Amino acid sequence: MDGNGRWARQQGEQRVFGHHHGVRAVRDTTEGCAEIGVGFLTLYAFSTENWNRPKEEVDALMELLVQTISKEIKTLMDNNISLKAIGDLESLPRKCHDELNLAIATTSSNTGMELILALSYSSRWEITKAVKEIAELVKGGKISTEEINEQVISNHLCTKEFPDPELMIRTSGEMRISNFLLWQLAYTELYITPVLWPDFSREELYKAILDFQKRERRFGMTSEQVKIN
Ligand code: FPP
Repeated sequence: MDGNGRWARQQGEQRVFGHHHGVRAVRDTTEGCAEIGVGFLTLYAFSTENWNRPKEEVDALMELLVQTISKEIKTLMDNNISLKAIGDLESLPRKCHDELNLAIATTSSNTGMELILALSYSSRWEITKAVKEIAELVKGGKISTEEINEQVISNHLCTKEFPDPELMIRTSGEMRISNFLLWQLAYTELYITPVLWPDFSREELYKAILDFQKRERRFGMTSEQVKIN
């Protein structure tokens, strides 16, 4: 969800103004995805590196997260969405952590789309944590080095209960992954739009999905093999 700061500057406002307007895009995208039957939607809301932003911006973002999560529980319930979170959740301020856990518990019996918030998340942090956990298992004699395979690694990532993403949408035209789901994005289709996040809408979401539907996903095979399969 990139471009909040630039959007605010274009309006002659402070960066935080853009984050507040970004919430509308979060709601529209979440409802839009649930309506068309998307199974899993992950929103990269706050990265490990975002902690390095000015303290006022970090504080404002944490406050906005608390407010949005508590205000939007009704939207989640109305749309049968269950909330999940990935990242170093223990590093979040207590209020944010508690609000998040409450929303996760309240929506846990919903059976529709799973909305996954990536908070204090970065892929390098996640992979480092997984490597340490696996090393401990080997040290304790629970598994052998030979038994380490892609499945074992996937099982130690925060996303172990979710499938790999099919489509990644990045707003604001940046041609980067920015430490997001590096392992999981191996065969994900990328869609980068110049639209800034606060201007992202259902229409922009549909454009991205229509574009995705035209892609041929070969997973390393030839086009002919894909057609036969
Ligand atoms: C990136 O834009 C955006 C963020 C770091 C924060 C996104 C957070 C929200 C939209 C708030 C609510 C979210 C949820 C899921 C409850 P940027 O600040 O990097 O923009 P710039 O690249 O133009 O500076």
